[in-house]
Amino acid sequence: MKIAIVYFSQSGNTEKAAGFIKEGLLGAGEFDIKLMNISGETSLDTGFLNECAAVIIGTPVYMADMAWQLKKWFDTDHSVKLAGKLGGAFATAGFVQGGMDTAVANVLHHMLVKGMLVYSSGTASGMPFLHLGPVAVAAELDNSRELFVTFGKRFADKAKELFD
Ligand SMILES: Cc1cc2nc3c(=O)[nH]c(=O)nc-3n(C[C@H](O)[C@H](O)[C@H](O)COP(=O)(O)O)c2cc1C
Repeated sequence: MKIAIVYFSQSGNTEKAAGFIKEGLLGAGEFDIKLMNISGETSLDTGFLNECAAVIIGTPVYMADMAWQLKKWFDTDHSVKLAGKLGGAFATAGFVQGGMDTAVANVLHHMLVKGMLVYSSGTASGMPFLHLGPVAVAAELDNSRELFVTFGKRFADKAKELFD
């Protein structure tokens, strides 16, 4: 099964969080996983993205919301068909009060508009609670690694349940 982790990352925090999620996914099964920075020098692999059963999307928090680069991608890139794919969202921020949950909620909201199925693991799987999806303050990212890894594992289990 193909899974993409799509994110915007200017200074590397969200990219690092994406790597933690990848660790979790790989800990739960055999997946073909690609990480893609939407502002990277190489363009997104739309062929791979369209073949994915699931797409996890990450953003740095900008003004208590998703980064505009991600919003632009949602609004303008019609080459990727997200409908019917399983989605999950994550974010990194500068401050605990800086709007991490709002940013994640807004990514999930966009996923719904695109026709995706969304999954957070919420609080239903016990500790650690994920609520809307894994988030971390950049300065605490390494200490928050387990949240992202756990999300990856639970997301992988859900993807296998739905698509295998
Ligand atoms: C333009 C801009 C706006 C930001 N706005 C917020 C904000 O509203 N709340 C917050 O907690 N952090 C804010 N930050 C901090 C980033 O969310 C944080 O540093 C994040 O981890 C950066 O991710 P990256 O290293 O993947 O680019 C902002 C950073 C930038 C550059």
